[in-house]
Amino acid sequence: MSNAAIKVDGVSHAFSTRSGGTWQALQSVSLVIHEGEFLAIVGPSGCGKTTLLNLIAGLEPIQSGSIYVNNHPPRLDDPDLGYLFARDALLPWRTIEGNAELAMELRGIPALERHNRANELLHEVGLANNVDAYPAQLSQGMRQRAAIARTLATDPSVLMLDEPFSALDAQTKLTLQASFSKLWAHLQATVLLITHDLSEAIALADRVVVFTSSPGRVKDTFDVPIPRPRELKSLQARSDYHELYEKIWLSLSAEVKWA
Ligand SMILES: Nc1ncnc2c1ncn2[C@@H]1O[C@H](COP(=O)(O)OP(=O)(O)OP(=O)(O)O)[C@@H](O)[C@H]1O
Ligand SMILES: [Mg+2]
Repeated sequence: MSNAAIKVDGVSHAFSTRSGGTWQALQSVSLVIHEGEFLAIVGPSGCGKTTLLNLIAGLEPIQSGSIYVNNHPPRLDDPDLGYLFARDALLPWRTIEGNAELAMELRGIPALERHNRANELLHEVGLANNVDAYPAQLSQGMRQRAAIARTLATDPSVLMLDEPFSALDAQTKLTLQASFSKLWAHLQATVLLITHDLSEAIALADRVVVFTSSPGRVKDTFDVPIPRPRELKSLQARSDYHELYEKIWLSLSAEVKWA
């Protein structure tokens, strides 16, 4: 068995409510994400997925249980950890290249190296012709591509993505998922992806974890046996894709509160 890139052990987390009570967001969550593995978490809205990522990123203090990232407790500004939010804001006064260089700048990487790395990544995400544009001049899908390039620019060994494609239209989403999948194939990074989209989870991940409704716990884990490289646009034609989708949906839909 390979090494754990992220190890979450018995983590529970509660928030204080305005009325002076507590709200249990996570309950005894244990999860291991192996080095180089692509793991997706799906779960009903409000079940604590973002809270878990925030704990792993060191943005929230751990109340009970333990978390290790590359064998050390979470720390803010961990250079090995990249965190991409659902609607990751680019700085409007910086060009796309300037935005892609931001994390590298904060780490003191020399200008020429920053420039080369940013341009290489922007090329890979299909923004080679837009490096001098400002965020407001780009579509939402293009802005999200730039945010992906910015997150990848420091070569994090662990990537956490919180619904990175959720704000995109169906076609843009598919193309961006496909280009991210290709990019990941030669990144050798560990990925923890939060998504509401089961097709996305199956298309991209090695394993899919289903969380219960609040308080979030690990309910089920599914291996994705579809071989790589995966041709995302033809996955729908595979019967094993549909069988897995049905199984995960059965598990997840039991947790969703239906109106
Ligand atoms: N800072 C906070 N203070 C108080 N309650 C919070 C805080 N952050 C999250 N919560 C509560 O904890 C629960 C889990 O929130 P979280 O954002 O982790 O859910 P989620 O699974 O990411 O949901 P979604 O799928 O909608 O993004 C929610 O009930 C939320 O209201
Ligand atoms: Mg969330």
